[in-house]
Amino acid sequence: MKILVTGGTGYIGSHTVVELQSIGFEVIIVDNLSNSSIDVLDNISKISRKRPLFEKFDLTDSEKTSAFFKLHGDIRAIIHFAAFKSVGESVMDPLKYYGNNLSSLINVLQGMIDNNIRDIVFSSSCTVYGQPDVLPVREDTPVQKAVSPYGNTKQICEEIITDSCNSNEIRGILLRYFNPIGAHETALIGELPLGTPDCLMPYITQTAIGRRPFLRVWGNDYDTPDGTAIRDYIHVVDLAKAHVIAVERLIHEKCIKNVEVFNLGTGNGFSVIEVIKSFESTSGVKLNFETRERRPGDIVKIWADTSLANKELGWEAEKTLDDMTLSAWKWELALKNRKLRNGEIVKQQNSRMTK
Ligand code: NAD
Ligand code: WQD
Repeated sequence: MKILVTGGTGYIGSHTVVELQSIGFEVIIVDNLSNSSIDVLDNISKISRKRPLFEKFDLTDSEKTSAFFKLHGDIRAIIHFAAFKSVGESVMDPLKYYGNNLSSLINVLQGMIDNNIRDIVFSSSCTVYGQPDVLPVREDTPVQKAVSPYGNTKQICEEIITDSCNSNEIRGILLRYFNPIGAHETALIGELPLGTPDCLMPYITQTAIGRRPFLRVWGNDYDTPDGTAIRDYIHVVDLAKAHVIAVERLIHEKCIKNVEVFNLGTGNGFSVIEVIKSFESTSGVKLNFETRERRPGDIVKIWADTSLANKELGWEAEKTLDDMTLSAWKWELALKNRKLRNGEIVKQQNSRMTK
């Protein structure tokens, strides 16, 4: 069975492709490589010993997307990862985010409807909850007004999928990820932030490897046990496995509703200091960090109620925080060893594009 993975050369997409291949799905990736490298295909193939099909184009191009779907009428289901994801950039350039994230989804949904493809899994985010009043946060907690254009695209995309499923013969599963970190155990695929990372884990590993002088811990005066903010970090491989289960649930018609929503987290909250401590203990590297003012827009604490995913999907995150920080470190070391530094990857990417 052929599964279309949009954004499949990206961080979460590449791990999901590996998991899909491991149980026999055929995968076709569509990615415009705006935030990933073509080398990821080689590395997926090394892990799976199977090369996924790959088409490079921009899903905001409705003609190309429509032509793609006409050519690949045998796609059984879609996992739609393709999107821009930087919160800060979305504040600076909101139209870039609304344009990319909404148009690509609309074109994919149109392709589904026109070609009788029924099933879609969508990458949503815990960002839709804002700062919940009650923790752990459940799926039926009302979404809050988004604090960033990026967050708003996730809310609007959830609504677009819900409306489309209610008026057409399509079904969707919306997966709300908490904070994905870590990398594949082979260290062949992982997170590849372009430029200076906003997110905690890549900032930690880049500091430890010497690319950044120190980590800035944003705020230590929150109402939390050690004063630093709390998140529900989830290993990217656990997250990837949940996508396979979601696809199978759709294909085997096990969904209870046209659109289902699941939180994907571990159910445990860890503070910034706890993540640093875990990293220091698994890597053996002492991390240089300094405390700074709170980062504007940051929420204080959030972690998931995962009981719905546990019960309905039969899925539970298995990896510990130490597994996450160790695998993230091994990935950073492997990147250094292979000299696949960000700038070089971009250069390679650009040189390929101009060839
Ligand atoms: P990523 O940037 O690594 O992967 C996204 C991929 O989509 C990239 O390879 C990029 O080149 C591609 N892409 C973007 N726009 C495209 C377009 N118009 N046409 C074709 N390809 C396009 O990001 P990721 O971390 O793997 O995130 C995957 C999805 O999960 C995104 O939708 C993101 O918003 C969502 N998400 C991510 C996180 C996180 O912390 N990483 C958390 C919650 C939700
Ligand atoms: C985690 C904690 C920071 C960097 C982001 C997106 C959100 C969703 C998940 C996609 C916070 C602290 C961080 C640093 C630090 N993604 N931190 N120093 O803020 O939970 O959410 O990822 O949907 O939309 O906004 O993740 O990794 O940026 O931060 O102290 O250099 O680490 O303040 O407490 P966040 P994060």
